[in-house]
Amino acid sequence: MTRPSRNQGLFITFEGIDGSGKSTQVRRLADYLCAQGHDVVETREPGGSPGAEEIRALVLQGEPDRWSAETELLLFTAARRDHLERLIEPALADGKIVVCDRFADSTRMYQGLSRGNLREAVDTLHDLMICREPDLTLLIDMDPATGLARALSRQTEDERFEAFGEALQSQMRAGFLALAEEFSDRFRVIDGARDPETVAGDVAAQVEAALA
Ligand code: ADP
Ligand code: TYD
Repeated sequence: MTRPSRNQGLFITFEGIDGSGKSTQVRRLADYLCAQGHDVVETREPGGSPGAEEIRALVLQGEPDRWSAETELLLFTAARRDHLERLIEPALADGKIVVCDRFADSTRMYQGLSRGNLREAVDTLHDLMICREPDLTLLIDMDPATGLARALSRQTEDERFEAFGEALQSQMRAGFLALAEEFSDRFRVIDGARDPETVAGDVAAQVEAALA
């Protein structure tokens, strides 16, 4: 794995299907790193900056057919660009550790693979507008039915994607595992079907290895 020097910060992302436990593990990892004295920024996508949070409401609320896959791709990319410019890049330049719930790999999956066969357009837009990969990506792997049940039990307003159901979840699980092989230098796969403490222990071990 290519590691930046510490004064360039460390960019860690979590990926996985809805309900796999990403948000839970982001919070735990941020607490763990803060307790060790690191300067940590905890954030999420879509969102993470005021402008991107506004776009979040547009893409995650409403009817499943509210946007085409192409329009969605533009909205997610616009949100990511704002998030990068205003939060992620400045934090990394200050030497901080950025822990982000989802990033460009989610676009490669959701818009690139499942909502439309748009992977080429996703990659082109990424190269044009984002041009940044995480240093470490933790894929929380989980069976689709359990993930969906956990996600729906939260009952938030941001359920537009959860409304696509278990078929989407299954396709996303397989897609994320394939992506982990495609980008094997930065991806680490973690079994999310265990208690949160055990999962957090594996996450911490991977992050310690990246920091070493
Ligand atoms: P995600 O961000 O991947 O959608 P969350 O972290 O929000 O997932 O978790 C979804 C739901 O499952 C939450 O109610 C959370 O409390 C619960 N949960 C998270 N991790 C675990 C786990 N390892 N075992 C059981 N339940 C979990
Ligand atoms: P969120 O509630 O943050 O996810 P989770 O249920 O995993 O906690 O909702 C994010 C949804 O947006 C999720 O279903 C995946 C989708 N998404 C995309 O389609 N493309 C993207 O680029 C990103 C970042 C998310």
